[in-house]
Order: sequence, then C-alpha cells, then structure tokens
Amino acid sequence: MTTDVLQIELRKAERSRIQEVDFNHLPFGKHFSDHMFVADFVDGQWQNQMIVPFDNFTLSPALSSLHYGQSIFEGMKAFKNEANEIFLFRPYANFERMNESARRMCMATLPEEVFIGGLEALLRVDADWVPGTPESSLYVRPYMFATDTFLGVAPSKTYRFCIFTCPVGAYYTNPPKLKVETEYIRSAPGGVGYAKCAGNYGGSLYPTMLAQQQGYDQLIWTDAREHKYIEESGTMNIMFMIDGKLVTPATSDSILKGVTRDSILQIARSWGIEVEERLVSIDEVIGAIESGRLTEAFGAGTAVGSSPYSLIGYNGKDYMLPEFAPEESFAVRIKDYLSDLRTGKIADTFGWMHQV
Ligand code: COI
Repeated sequence: MTTDVLQIELRKAERSRIQEVDFNHLPFGKHFSDHMFVADFVDGQWQNQMIVPFDNFTLSPALSSLHYGQSIFEGMKAFKNEANEIFLFRPYANFERMNESARRMCMATLPEEVFIGGLEALLRVDADWVPGTPESSLYVRPYMFATDTFLGVAPSKTYRFCIFTCPVGAYYTNPPKLKVETEYIRSAPGGVGYAKCAGNYGGSLYPTMLAQQQGYDQLIWTDAREHKYIEESGTMNIMFMIDGKLVTPATSDSILKGVTRDSILQIARSWGIEVEERLVSIDEVIGAIESGRLTEAFGAGTAVGSSPYSLIGYNGKDYMLPEFAPEESFAVRIKDYLSDLRTGKIADTFGWMHQV
C-alpha cells in the first residue's frame, strides 16, 4: 500500500497503542505514536520512503554515527483546532535549519518532498495522536544519522532520516532555577553551536549535572572566550525584559536560531514592544536585577514554549527574579498567544500554521 504522497510505502501497525496512553498526563518524550517515517540516503539519493510501525532499528556496531557523531535532529509541534484539523507550526523553518545542520556536519541534505512530504504523510496516518487537551501537542522529532559501517573518520556516504512523534504536555511544572556557567562551554566561535547536532546536547549533560547537584535546574551558557556574554539557557534561547524592552542575545555561529525565539520576537514587534538582539553581558543582567529594571527572564524553545525562570545563580550568589501575576507576565502572555494561534482560536496573521 502507498500513501497519497507518492512513493511512500505504508505498513500499518496491526494494533494501535493509543488506548495505553493517558492524554491527561503526558510526560515529555515518553509515549511514542504508532508509526514512524523512514527514508535512506543510498547511492547519492533519498529512497525507500516508508511509514512503518514505531519499532527498533537493527544497526551495525560499526555504524559511523555512533562513533563520530554525524547525527542531527529537529524538534517541532503539531496541534489540533476545534474542527479537529491538524496543523504543524512553521515546518519550513525546521526544514531549513535541518539542512543548515546537515551542511555543517557534512551530511546529505533533504529535499522538501522528503522532509515536508514525510511529515505530512506521517501526521495523517497518526492524526488521532495529536492531543486536544490544553497545554498539550504532538511533539515531532525528525532526525538523521550516518549509516556507513566504516571506522575511517570521513563523511558517511549513507544516511537514515526518520520522523517519529510523541504526544506531550507541559515541559516544566515549576519555573526553573538557573546557574550561570563560567567554566564549561556549550559551543565556541567556529564550532557547531548553531547546528542542531546530537553532540551539543551530549556535551551539556555533565556541567548541567554538576549544577543540579548544587540545587539548580539548568545552566545559562556564556561565551567561550570570556564567560562574559550570555548565549543560551539549557536547551533553549534566553530572553529578558529590561526597562520594558525585550532583550536577547543576537544569534551567531555559537547560538541556535530558535524557531520559537524568532516567533516571539516577531510577535513582540507586532505588539509594538521594542526588541534588542545584541550582546547581553551577565554583568548587565545582574545589574538590572539589582536595580529592579529586569522584570522577567525566560527560555524560548520548541519543547518548552516560553518558560519563566525563578532565579539566577552567579559566582556563588543567587538572584531572585520578580514574581508576577500571570496576566502581568510577558512570557505568559506570549505563551497564551502562541497557544491560541496554534489551536486556531485567533487568526494566524503571520501565516505560520501549515495544515497537513
Ligand atoms: C526543543 O525544544 O525541541 C529542543 O531541542 C529541546 C529538546 C532537546 C528537548
């Protein structure tokens, strides 16, 4: 059987697992929907496009991505409106970033018909898995890894691209506490920080664990040269409200060009809020907290949305961030606006929603 998107073979699961999932309690990344999309890059072309039951792969122990890290991914979300129509949020932005990551990691790039066509076909097959409950969505994980069985350090000639999905609820339940990292780094100029490659996340785990042992939840990453300028927080971009302006580090080769980041900046500008994308030093942020000019600090990412922070720890001292009634918080206002836009409650004036 093939799907209506040409050349995608469809093998349906014999039995759906959807009844096993409690849609009122959806931890992040734990429940996987029934099917996945798979395509292989072999002999210089993408081929064998399939939608098959979500299942294990059989992999060679010599698989080059396991050894040398040619592995990239994206994170995006699908939503349902009241008419049960399904929409992806800005999938072309993820498509472009996936190929930017692929180029940096010397991997095959994906044509639109494989990335967007695969997404659309998979979401149509697993449409029932898109939650309709508040704060929930279907998290979509496209990724690609090198599949040569070869131990020479060289770009693989073959790759696998896969997309699977998971219904998810809210990522954080309480506003996280952050520690400014002044020893380890996430990325460096000329490095791979702007690419969504697996190693960026693997490398962050040890310093994050050390911060968690000290009672923090996540890190604020600073620049590699001086640990003076703020880059990201945890796995997200970071934003501040200072003197009523939305201030965020400008993207660079060491900062990921977040789709949520870009969306928030566009919405803020459309609301008439002044936006500054520039170098943001930790001294500026601490000074603004102390003088009461900083009213909010929050993370912006696909998995989390916009997540207010409660505290910033720097050089052994903790700085509490102001507490807000939700209706006074910019981060909460943005989160609600994005949620309404994605579920069709307000008009999509930006043209971001892509019906599947
Ligand atoms: C996302 O927000 O999609 C991310 O990349 C975070 C993820 C690593 C959980």
